[in-house]
Amino acid sequence: MCGIIGYTGSRQVRDILIDGLLKLEYRGYDSAGIAIHNGSLRVIKSPGKVSKLVELLPPNLDSTTGIAHTRWATHGEPSEINAHPHTSGSGKLVMVHNGIIENAPAIESYLVEKGYSFISETDTEVLLNLIDNEYELCGGDLLSAMLKSFEKIEGSYALAIIEKGRPGRITICRKDSPLIMGIDDTGYFVASDIYAVSDYTGRFIFPENNDIIIADRELGLKAYDGNGKEKELKISSFTARKKNPDRTGYNHFMEKEIYEQPHIISELANSILFINGQSACGNSLAEIIQRIRRITILGCGTSWHAGLIGKYLIEKHVRIPVNVEYASEFRYRDPVIDPEDLVISISQSGETADTIAANRLALEAGAITLGILNVKNSTLDRDTHFQIYLEAGDEIGVASTKAYTAQIVQLSRLTALLAGIKGNGSTIGDISSALKNISGSMQQVLAGAEKISALASKYAFTNNFLFLGRGLNFPTALEGALKLKEISYIHAEGYPGAEMKHGPIALIDFNFPTLVVLTDSESRPKMISNIKEIKARRGRVIAIINENDESAEQLVDDVIKVPSVPDIVSPLISVMPLQLFAYYVALLRGCNVDQPRNLAKSVTVE
Ligand code: M6R
Repeated sequence: MCGIIGYTGSRQVRDILIDGLLKLEYRGYDSAGIAIHNGSLRVIKSPGKVSKLVELLPPNLDSTTGIAHTRWATHGEPSEINAHPHTSGSGKLVMVHNGIIENAPAIESYLVEKGYSFISETDTEVLLNLIDNEYELCGGDLLSAMLKSFEKIEGSYALAIIEKGRPGRITICRKDSPLIMGIDDTGYFVASDIYAVSDYTGRFIFPENNDIIIADRELGLKAYDGNGKEKELKISSFTARKKNPDRTGYNHFMEKEIYEQPHIISELANSILFINGQSACGNSLAEIIQRIRRITILGCGTSWHAGLIGKYLIEKHVRIPVNVEYASEFRYRDPVIDPEDLVISISQSGETADTIAANRLALEAGAITLGILNVKNSTLDRDTHFQIYLEAGDEIGVASTKAYTAQIVQLSRLTALLAGIKGNGSTIGDISSALKNISGSMQQVLAGAEKISALASKYAFTNNFLFLGRGLNFPTALEGALKLKEISYIHAEGYPGAEMKHGPIALIDFNFPTLVVLTDSESRPKMISNIKEIKARRGRVIAIINENDESAEQLVDDVIKVPSVPDIVSPLISVMPLQLFAYYVALLRGCNVDQPRNLAKSVTVE
């Protein structure tokens, strides 16, 4: 879960590398480093964020070739030694790597026998020294050394190597980990995603699995497949949108992103649903839907929660069976998928390793694949047949907020489309009018932020929390618990209301509060019973209730009132107080809201 950036050409490399690292920090921020070639190889690294590394860099590095890395630790703690780039035993190669080498211990033993010693705890150093060993054996031919080494390697990698003896050259390879190249008139860029280099160029190469590409300032580009056979490279030209990391007027990106939701949702609700850039009606997906027997939704974390809402909506209104699967489980459990399946991969970033791999498995099984994505030109954007975009703008805070509500809206609109195709016209009207009116209600929730902040101070130093919801708001409970734990480090569990009696109720006492989502009318009577069961055990209850629900107010300790909206869109409203609650609790506990410990915005290793 790391970010790679590199450049070789006629420009000075320092600022390109720093700028790229900052743009890639969403992939990890526990340590960073750069290596440059200016006659000899020089490596500078540091634990902590990119800003810490920058403090160590001399203002003028005077080099036009370099590679850099921002890390999320997989093997070994975040430290200077474990940070990338790594230098090989011979001192002739320096490498940055994203991915995991699964058989690193066996390779390490093999290399120790050959006289190698290791200074870091990383699998990267093992892979690098394996290449180094072959490099020495074949007289400094890096291509052959890499091909020979990859035969022995199990795992995934995206890597970039610079060589002591070849000052203007970067050699890259990828397998099951994203890596792209950019080209301009000055030279060659390499990066984990195109946004790290899209300020410089609009010409990109997307290497296939196992491709090895040598980018040489003097000799140009050469590409080889995994068997070492030379191959042609396809260059795609397009202008990628610039990232906008600006939070003017807000203290944190998460706060800004929560407050952006009414506007984003209103824009989506009042626009045409586009699939692959064309109106959804009359789109070829609409034809394909006629023969679809089953839908599988894939995602991780918050995107998986949105997928659960998609299941409830589609099954109820379209009557097609829907499975919602953690991408990480789906990819390894030998699922039954065939060409009559529609597989929907939901991902804000489009770079989540498990979702990418699960989607690829579905593609290989012949399924039709649809991505519901925020980041255009991401790996999943390229790897799916159809795409619906969230149009939510850059989501920088690690805790997903506006992408979640945008995912729910796009799934609702997809439900309306599918319902229309299947002849259930009334659903289209219900969903579209409910969505068109929702943004004012979302504004009203934000207007109550101060009350939520006050409530947060009452509960901020609680160690545990239970979140309960039912039906469409069971995923809201899961999402509320996830928000609280990831940014405030409070243990929180989300459960369907009725499941509480099957175990979690044993936890309930005065010090273990429960947050109940009580906004949808269908499940209300059942949730009221759940609240009574908690109160009978001296548990404290905070309830998210509709503004006029006085009877519920009598039953609980605290309430957060939200405007009453049709059940079909209630998850959009009920999740907002939970986002705000987690945000204020995290502030009170002194946590880093936008970059919580141990996390990364995008989980790019499995
Ligand atoms: O980019 P993706 O939507 O694929 O990311 C999936 C999860 O990693 C992500 O939603 C994660 O759970 C968030 N940090 C939750 O706030």
